Order: sequence, then C-alpha cells, then structure tokens
Amino acid sequence: MKVSICAGLLLLAVTLQVWAEEPPVQSAMCMSCHGEKGQGNALLGAPRLAGQQADYLLTQLLNFKTGVRGYDPRDPYGAQMRAVTAVLGEDEIERLSSYYANQEVQSPERVELKHSAEGEKIYQGTCAYCHGPKGEGFAHLKTPRLSILDGAYMERQLENYLQGIRGGEDHADELGIWMRGIALQIADESERKAVIDYITSLSVANAR
Ligand code: HEC
Ligand code: HEC
Repeated sequence: MKVSICAGLLLLAVTLQVWAEEPPVQSAMCMSCHGEKGQGNALLGAPRLAGQQADYLLTQLLNFKTGVRGYDPRDPYGAQMRAVTAVLGEDEIERLSSYYANQEVQSPERVELKHSAEGEKIYQGTCAYCHGPKGEGFAHLKTPRLSILDGAYMERQLENYLQGIRGGEDHADELGIWMRGIALQIADESERKAVIDYITSLSVANAR
C-alpha cells in the first residue's frame, strides 16, 4: 500500500514537472517584447522574466490587470502591460508566472564589471534586507530578484517610484508604497547610479 502511494506521488511529481516546463499557449503573446524565453529586451524596455521570483511575477501581473501598477498616463510602458493583462484570466496568469520563473536562460556577458563601493554600502545597508544580499529576492516578501534586471529598467522603475508613477498612495498596494518610500531615500542621482551599478555587478554573468 505504502509503495503504491509513493509511486503515485512520484508520477504526480513527474507530471507536474512536465506541466511546468511546457510553455503556456499565452506565452506566444509575450515573446515579441520579452524574448523567446523571457530573457528580456532592453531596447523595448521589457525586463527579463526568466528566473524571476514566481510570487513577484504573479503579483505584478495581477497589479497591471487591476490598475495597481501602470495607472499613470505618464507611463507608456506600464500601459502596454495593462493592455496585455486585460485579456488574461487569473489561472493563465498563474501558469505564466510559474513558467517564466522556471526558465533558465544565460545572461549576456557584460563588457565591464561595474562594482561600486558606494553602491555596495547603500545596497547592503538599505536594500539587502528585502532583496537579499545577492539581489536574489524573497518569495515570502514578494520582492523581485534584482540581479537579473538590466540597469536602464531599474533606473526607470526607481524614477517611477520617486514620481509616484509606480507605488503612488492613491493606486498602489502596500508593497508598492513601501518601495516608493525607499526610492525617496535614494533620490540623489549619483547614489542611485552607484547602487544600480553595484546591483548589475551582482549578476550571474559577472559572478563567473
Ligand atoms: C508590447 C510589449 C509587451 C508585451 C507583448 C508583453 N510585455 Fe510585459 N512588459 C513590457 C514592458 C515595456 C514592461 C515594463 C513595464 C514598466 O516599465 O513598468 C513589461 C513588464 C512586465 C512585467 C513586470 C516585470 C517586473 O520586473 O516588474 C511582467 C511580469 C510582464 N511584463 C509579463 C509579461 C507577460 C507574461 C506577457 C505575455 C502574456 C507580457 N509581459 C507581454 C512589454 C510587454
Ligand atoms: C522594505 C523592503 C524593501 C526594501 C528595503 C527595498 N525594496 Fe525594492 N522592492 C520591494 C518590494 C516589495 C518591491 C515590489 C513593489 C511593487 O510591487 O511595486 C520592490 C521593487 C523594487 C524594484 C522594481 C523591480 C522590478 O522588477 O520592477 C527595484 C528596482 C527595487 N525594488 C530596488 C531597490 C533598491 C535599489 C533598494 C535599496 C535602496 C530597495 N529596493 C530596497 C521591497 C523593498
């Protein structure tokens, strides 16, 4: 009896594994901007999704759908995602989130290593608590993995938080409002640049 339960569980685990790796039909909609495997496209301003925290992807897609993110008329990038999520159901959003979180794509090699001592101090002192010492993000805090993101995208997000284009008190949830509070603490442009340089130096490509 015990053996057959175990075998059943094993079969279920294998089935779930296959299910997780099969690209959901709706991912065809995402490829033109986020790349075939969700590797991102900096020219289009579309961030990398592959290897991002699943819980974070899920909350962000639901946030776009319900207007918690992408609500501001000054946010053309967010407007694109609002249009995309308008046609997705919640179960499709869940499948897409787990699919992209499980994709492993290689980061492009970086030309130079931009390690910044000032950035390290700010990051390890202010950001690591929520985003992890290596920028890996935490599922239980629903924080993104920053180490996979490109610098221009992060810069735009920090600017958006600062301006209330993202995380604004009238629209956002408490997580967005939190992050806006942090962005206000690094409003100084040179500090922001230093911290972004440090985060990009944490990327997998540079670690090798
Ligand atoms: C027309 C281009 C376009 C298409 C199609 C598109 N996206 Fe996006 N996506 C973007 C852009 C641009 C952003 C950045 C938004 C911003 O700056 O706030 C983005 C942001 C996101 C984010 C937030 C990521 C983060 O780190 O916060 C998620 C999640 C996402 N897209 C998932 C998807 C999925 C899943 C699909 C397909 C169902 C999809 N996108 C289709 C352009 C697109
Ligand atoms: C109190 C916890 C907390 C701290 C501290 C914190 N963050 Fe965040 N951060 C979050 C959360 C939660 C989100 C997602 C918020 C949302 O839903 O908009 C986020 C989002 C972000 C994003 C957007 C990423 C994306 O994929 O769109 C960037 C960039 C970011 N944080 C950078 C930083 C930097 C740099 C610092 C340090 C100066 C920092 N964070 C400190 C909690 C935190």
